[in-house]
Amino acid sequence: MEINLCIPAIPARVSPIVIETGLAAALGQHLKRVAQGRELFWVWDARVWELWQRRVACLNWPGLTSERLLLFDATEVNKRLAKVEELARQLVRAGADRMSFLVAVGGGVTGDVAGFLASIFMRGIPHVHLPTTLLAQVDSSVGGKTGVDLPEGKNLLGTFQQAQAVYIDPQFLETLSDEQFTQGMAEVIKMAMLGDGDLWSYLETNSSRILNREATPLEHIIAASCRLKAQVVEADERESGLRRILNLGHTVGHALERLSDYRILHGNAVAMGMLAATRLAVCLGLVADGVFGRLVALLEVYGLPTRIVGDYSPEAIVEALKTDKKQLAGKLHFIVPTDIGSVVQRHDLDLAALNEVLDDLRDR
Ligand SMILES: NC(=O)c1ccc[n+]([C@@H]2O[C@H](COP(=O)([O-])OP(=O)(O)OC[C@H]3O[C@@H](n4cnc5c(N)ncnc54)[C@H](O)[C@@H]3O)[C@@H](O)[C@H]2O)c1
Ligand SMILES: [Zn+2]
Repeated sequence: MEINLCIPAIPARVSPIVIETGLAAALGQHLKRVAQGRELFWVWDARVWELWQRRVACLNWPGLTSERLLLFDATEVNKRLAKVEELARQLVRAGADRMSFLVAVGGGVTGDVAGFLASIFMRGIPHVHLPTTLLAQVDSSVGGKTGVDLPEGKNLLGTFQQAQAVYIDPQFLETLSDEQFTQGMAEVIKMAMLGDGDLWSYLETNSSRILNREATPLEHIIAASCRLKAQVVEADERESGLRRILNLGHTVGHALERLSDYRILHGNAVAMGMLAATRLAVCLGLVADGVFGRLVALLEVYGLPTRIVGDYSPEAIVEALKTDKKQLAGKLHFIVPTDIGSVVQRHDLDLAALNEVLDDLRDR
């Protein structure tokens, strides 16, 4: 299955997102075509390399030699500028130049770091993604955001550089832990809630096949998520308006992550953020109560939180969400559902209602 991402500002270019179980076997041909004679260099999540090197050794992927392979210890603490410099120096020593081409293999951390590196190396070289976590396959590999963290906050340095292509082989998820799989499911549920009611019904009806990681349902939910993300990014690449809807659940989610010093995992935080946004929408009369019930049921099925865990007072959460870089000019900015599959952006948030909702959702 192929989805084509076309950014109006770069009309001559179409970036394919190819989704297929077993795609790895044909990746060599895809890469030769997309690289157009440029020399390939590889940035791999070291853990993924360890797990998959034997299986990919026989696939004849171009340029995958020890000299042109950079291993990256993919953790959030390594998502830093210093690591980008280290990788850039390795690239230079390995003979990379302005005509080189980068392939990023790994989860969202590797993709963000390698994409950032590609976008600034010798003023920019093209790159492609081979995402290996569910989160990266349904979200981070699509859309062209790259970046690294600062001690002051996540993703504070970054660029927009669309990948030339994204190659998604759900088979890579075989080795992903259940915990990481669940975190990725939070983003799939988010996508369904914000723009795809059919995907939502599919998630409700096919949960056991998805949780068993069967090929067909995985392809289905990945493709639906990528299609929706591509549509939103095409309409608003630089996040000046519509793209903000992708932050559904992330306003309160980010606040909870920061408050917990990132001990709350991202997907769990997004799940709790969606609960807050939906409950708030119910209180404001924007959405039917039944939608909140369906959200709770779906989160439960996929092993995500259905209450706000951790002993955080509503006041502390509200304080933390005011420092989010995505909040505009001091106004609290919120994405709230109006139905399953549709959302609105609100800038006129009633703090008292939010406090009440957060208090209501506390896991006592
Ligand atoms: N650029 C964007 O638009 C965007 C969007 C969402 C999130 N992000 C970023 O993505 C990052 C999170 O990405 P993530 O959740 O993929 O985390 P990650 O890259 O840290 O991967 C999670 C863990 O899974 C391991 N792993 C990866 N693939 C595996 C596989 N196939 N089998 C076994 N283990 C595997 C990794 O080594 C790591 O330990 C965050 O830094 C976030 O800011 C970016
Ligand atoms: Zn997210």
